[in-house]
Amino acid sequence: MTEKHFIPTPYTNSLENGSFSWSSPSNIALVKYWGKKEHQIPENPSISFTLDNCKTTTNLTFLRKASHGGFSFEVFLDGEQKDDFKPKIETFFKRVEDYLPFLKDYHFKIETSNTFPHSSGIASSASGMSALALCLMSIEKLIIESDVTLSAAERSIDETYFTKKASFLARLGSGSACRSLEGDLVVWGKHDGIEGSSDLFGVKYPNDVHQNFKNYQDTILLVDKGEKQVSSTVGHNLMYGHPFAQERFKQADKNLSDMISILKEGDLDAFIALVESEALTLHAMMMTSMPYFILMKPNTLEIINKIWDYRKSSGSKICFTLDAGANVHVLYPEGEASQVLEFIQNELVAFCQKGQYINDKIGFGAKLL
Ligand code: PMV
Repeated sequence: MTEKHFIPTPYTNSLENGSFSWSSPSNIALVKYWGKKEHQIPENPSISFTLDNCKTTTNLTFLRKASHGGFSFEVFLDGEQKDDFKPKIETFFKRVEDYLPFLKDYHFKIETSNTFPHSSGIASSASGMSALALCLMSIEKLIIESDVTLSAAERSIDETYFTKKASFLARLGSGSACRSLEGDLVVWGKHDGIEGSSDLFGVKYPNDVHQNFKNYQDTILLVDKGEKQVSSTVGHNLMYGHPFAQERFKQADKNLSDMISILKEGDLDAFIALVESEALTLHAMMMTSMPYFILMKPNTLEIINKIWDYRKSSGSKICFTLDAGANVHVLYPEGEASQVLEFIQNELVAFCQKGQYINDKIGFGAKLL
């Protein structure tokens, strides 16, 4: 499958106005994507847990405008106009224009809100871009379905194509966003052991998953709620010419191969080792790039050490992972939830900014509202 697959058969658009709302979750990578080629093509495949509580809801209203002209839109976050979001959306529209020929026919009102605080350090780009991509797909679906000049076959868009194209579009907004549409595990990037996997979009993980990983829990400890020190665009670019980049890309591919058997066997110890190593490797890549960055804070390390001590003394299967920032995702099996939450409250909350954390768990993807 190539990009061409997502260019629609030319249609006559007679739709005047309307609106769609989607909610879409965030996701947390177990094998990380860090480094990309042109057009948001990942250098290595990645796999993530889809989250449940951390999500963005977007309502997209469209109204036909008089002239074709350029892109026309306004953006609101929690009811407040956000002009500083516009450049990112303008770039996204430019990237997806060939795949959504109706974009310049309308003026759009994008109204969005997150369940997590905007300044929490939790990236809203994955949930935000996937929600927007889904709203745009809903519009395209309606345009095509109501075009009587098309044949019956051309007018029907099946669910699989809808989700794939929405993921494809989301990827062009923010790479990891393409892993937010479905659940509970999603793979993005071509991998020999995963049928249907693609560099162009995320796919629901198709292989066997052991009961141990069902309903896995993720408590996000908010260590540093400030603006990201390094944007992911800058971060990915640091992988160009990075002395360890090629080895890292190979390692990620191999880690995903290992993850396939870990998920099948339910091997929690191997899962812990792989996931923590992936998180530290991501940070190591940033520490060893030029310029270099330390994205962890002292409290990130305090938390990691506490988790290691607790695991050693209790035999718990708790582990951590990190995004490109200081916050810590604490992962653990559902059966340990009450003990681990007690541990978090007694020993980890002290290292969170204003004692803040978010309890989340594996979720099942985006929803049309
Ligand atoms: O989707 P981006 O371009 O913001 O990159 C996200 C990269 C990480 O979150 C650090 C890793 C991942 O795979 O999600």
